[in-house]
Amino acid sequence: MSKQILIVAGDGIGPEVMGQVERIIDWYNTNRGLDAVVENDLVGGCCYEAHGVAVTDATIQKALDADAVMLGAVGGPQWDGVDFAVRPEAGLLRLRKDLELFANLRPAMCFPALADASSLKRELVEGLDIMIVRELTGGVYFGEPRGIEDLPNGERRGINTQVYDTYEIRRVAKVGFDMARKRGGRLMSVEKCNVMESGLLWKEEVIKLHGEGNGDVKLEHMLADNCAMQLVKNPKQFDVIVTDNLFGDILSDIAAMLTGSLGMLPSASLGAPDANGKVRAMYEPVHGSAPDIAGQGLANPIATILSFAMLLRYSFDLGADADLLEKAVETVLADGLRTGDIMQDGMKQVGTVEMGDAVLTALKTLSA
Ligand code: IPM
Ligand code: MG
Repeated sequence: MSKQILIVAGDGIGPEVMGQVERIIDWYNTNRGLDAVVENDLVGGCCYEAHGVAVTDATIQKALDADAVMLGAVGGPQWDGVDFAVRPEAGLLRLRKDLELFANLRPAMCFPALADASSLKRELVEGLDIMIVRELTGGVYFGEPRGIEDLPNGERRGINTQVYDTYEIRRVAKVGFDMARKRGGRLMSVEKCNVMESGLLWKEEVIKLHGEGNGDVKLEHMLADNCAMQLVKNPKQFDVIVTDNLFGDILSDIAAMLTGSLGMLPSASLGAPDANGKVRAMYEPVHGSAPDIAGQGLANPIATILSFAMLLRYSFDLGADADLLEKAVETVLADGLRTGDIMQDGMKQVGTVEMGDAVLTALKTLSA
């Protein structure tokens, strides 16, 4: 049976970068027997314009039924004044929540050709390979109560709640342990147990789980502020980091810059396997909709292309096809092609479509 991929390209540069992935899917269908059928739909500001909400119930149902979802980016300044409940980001958050995608994998790898594109010194980032496992369906992003209240004294109060139940901590920590086991065998659990009860519970539960059959993984703990500092001081000390939703959001942006550009970082968001062993999943670049360069053909499609490589690996179990695509990206970078965000002296600057062309050419060459 064909594999169903739902693509929601979203706003800003989303459609441009996703356009390159659609070409790559076609290539895999024709040349590697992928047999994937793509359906496109609206999420984000584009959906708000069409339907008055950031995602419709019908699209959520399609996402639940699909074998995998790919998302481009959502948001833009034109929707800044829109109510939180229907603004573009709400569409993304609802997809994550309704599909129960609690484990967000954000690998930060520095391609050798890009070691000089990072704002950090080459020796700090060369060969970098870390994995951030971010909790994605809990914490302050979804905690109740939330809102803005009028107080009797004429002041206003903004409220969000950081809340974690044990099952939420345990299931994402388990992903962290499993991931560490497949990689360098080390897990860093990150929270703020010095000031937050939710952080203390996080740490206690991770330690408990370590004692329940995960002792082969070397577990350490770090406060989130220190982790931010350590990521720019000595990033290669980390193997796998597991952390909550908000800290993961922030730390993964830091990690992204170590690789040269936010335009390089892919992500996979995974749920728990259902009774048939199917794992719900959504793949998206870590970068946003970049309204400043949208529609100009300048955006770097590599984060989205690498997100599709993660889709091949995690949703379709096609590790060799994922390796091939990652290798193609590496080849293109080694050949000196660069979009504006990773441009360096002596390299050739190209646009979104030319970068897509180059990856397709490399795929052909590498698989010949
Ligand atoms: C991310 C983004 C989102 C988040 C926004 C767009 C809601 O920053 O995926 O990292 O905060 O999770
Ligand atoms: Mg973010």
